[in-house]
Amino acid sequence: MKYPIVKPYLPCLEKYQNYISDVFERNWLTNNGPLVQKLEKRLAEYLGVEHLLLVANGTLALQVAYAALGIKGKVLTTPFSFAATASSLVWHGLQAEFIDVDAGSFNLNADNISTEQIDTASAILAVHVFGNPCEVEKLAALGAEHDMKIIYDAAHAFGSNFNDQSVLNYGDAATLSFHATKLFHSTEGGAIIFKNKADYDNARQLINFGFDKNNHPELVGINAKMSEMHAAMGLTVLENIDHITAQRSELVNRYHQNLETITCELLQLQHWHVAGVRNGAYMPVLFKDESSVLLIADQLANEDIGTRRYFHPSLSQVEAYGMKGDTPIANDIASRILCLPLYTDLTLVDVDYICDKIKFFLDVRS
Ligand SMILES: Cc1ncc(COP(=O)(O)O)c(C=O)c1O
Repeated sequence: MKYPIVKPYLPCLEKYQNYISDVFERNWLTNNGPLVQKLEKRLAEYLGVEHLLLVANGTLALQVAYAALGIKGKVLTTPFSFAATASSLVWHGLQAEFIDVDAGSFNLNADNISTEQIDTASAILAVHVFGNPCEVEKLAALGAEHDMKIIYDAAHAFGSNFNDQSVLNYGDAATLSFHATKLFHSTEGGAIIFKNKADYDNARQLINFGFDKNNHPELVGINAKMSEMHAAMGLTVLENIDHITAQRSELVNRYHQNLETITCELLQLQHWHVAGVRNGAYMPVLFKDESSVLLIADQLANEDIGTRRYFHPSLSQVEAYGMKGDTPIANDIASRILCLPLYTDLTLVDVDYICDKIKFFLDVRS
């Protein structure tokens, strides 16, 4: 495909090799090695957060967060997300109940939570969809009033700010994915940012089999550690993060300039939170209906332009996750969504070309 939907960012090989040579010299490959410690520190500084714990991937980040916060029973969550949001709950023996989303932001809409759901749930797991900040203040107030933990699946929210600080500073825990296709990556990897130091300390023990200082399994833990090889990739990518973010944001802005002119009956763009700034993580568009999405995706593929129905299907329609919750808005969005190519070496000329093709297929004059 000439324009794939994503291309993992590959940093300078020589710099990566330097880190790997150091790892070979030390022969310290995992178990909280010096590169993991360095990446943890650098990421916390870069993002402006405290209590950041690196883990092996974004799915384990969610599961460790549930365990560290002692989440039990029912969790209210969004159906418009990636499979891991719901599967991590079910895998952990929790009951996922789906709350419908806002039609503009695509994020969980707290106004759709019923009194009965508030009274019976132990936590809300919301997603900053495509990096777009949730109504974090409203959710914080709800959590405080009803003694519910607020967790953010912030897999897309690297570098996403809200009121001039990282959106990762909101919630009892916020989890990140550093999968190869993400804006910032470590090949595979993830992180959890905890509000409280005690939860962070607990999670640090949980990701290493629950071992105490004497290697005695004091808690029921798991292996969720990041390796030195993965941290080496993270450190190398982090050196270029300002360039990556600037480049992707410019591309997203160009997509918006091109597509904003199309009438909203044919195509809609995600409404970003007014107190946030787009982080350039994804480029989603909503088409008129499902048949338009299927047709456009096919037509673009014939022109060597990759797209992805991300997220489809709506998680509330997946039998394996229990299907609890009436979510017509999320179901509708999931049927009409399409993500467009976005990666660091895509050019503004490429974006114009892709948008011209979309306009042509929609029969819109430029
Ligand atoms: C919203 C969301 N949550 C969780 C994950 C899981 O992250 P990982 O692939 O690092 O396990 C992803 C991955 O793309 C995601 O998009």
